[in-house]
Amino acid sequence: MITVHQISQLRNEVRQQRAQGKRIALVPTMGNLHEGHLQLVRRARELADFVAVSIFVNPMQFGANEDFDSYPRTLEQDQEKLTSVGCDLVFAPSANEVYPQGLDQQTQVVVPALTELHCGASRPGHFTGVATVVSMLFNMVQPDVALFGEKDFQQLAVIRKLVRDLCFPIQIEGVPIMREADGLAMSSRNGYLSEEERKIAPRLYQVLQQVRTAIEQGERNYAQLSEVGKTLLTQSGFRPDYFNIVNSQTLQPAQSDDQDITLLVAAYLGQTRLIDNLSLKV
Ligand code: PAF
Repeated sequence: MITVHQISQLRNEVRQQRAQGKRIALVPTMGNLHEGHLQLVRRARELADFVAVSIFVNPMQFGANEDFDSYPRTLEQDQEKLTSVGCDLVFAPSANEVYPQGLDQQTQVVVPALTELHCGASRPGHFTGVATVVSMLFNMVQPDVALFGEKDFQQLAVIRKLVRDLCFPIQIEGVPIMREADGLAMSSRNGYLSEEERKIAPRLYQVLQQVRTAIEQGERNYAQLSEVGKTLLTQSGFRPDYFNIVNSQTLQPAQSDDQDITLLVAAYLGQTRLIDNLSLKV
């Protein structure tokens, strides 16, 4: 496995692989890798001959009061983990390499409507930062396939839309959420939780499961169920940001005759914002 820091090196390496007829996979990450990321790489290995992983804590997708500065940078440990799962290349650029003229001068990719809901409503500009950097990475690597975790359900929908709208010839592969033994969705941000908060955190998934059970038992008043979800989370010690029950394709509020439903949740435990989701067929 090699690590490169410059776009020109990255392009050079990938060009050589493509010249040999290899199928290229890209796994974009912000590093601080956990088992969920490694699962993306394992899946990438199944789908392609050459797997590139980008590690870049993208300043454009963090709000002014968010955790950009404290976000863990753990390149050496990440490299070890990636070697163990058969990654071929790590691309770890500096912010200056990606945004040489600074964020103010950077051309942006704005995905309308979808990015204003859910996490987009609470984190204005977040998805523009994601869409911009992902589009840039797609142009840098020009992969055949790119893989993203389903934990970031809305992010995946935004990326699928931008790929369709901007005609990127790239297959987008969503990979199911990896969970800890107690059900907590794996996330780099779990590391922020205190011991006490870590004990409460699995309630997020348990509440999703409770609401799913109610839907499976025939409850279709989704607005009321969302309120129930938020109340259960508050009682457990969370500060819910949103608990939305949506159509899995459009991410618009679910209607009583929708068949593919997703429960989307974001909630704070102390300072840490956790997200999770659960899809079901009704
Ligand atoms: O999901 C993430 O880690 C990031 O949002 C991504 C896709 C790597 C873009 O910075």
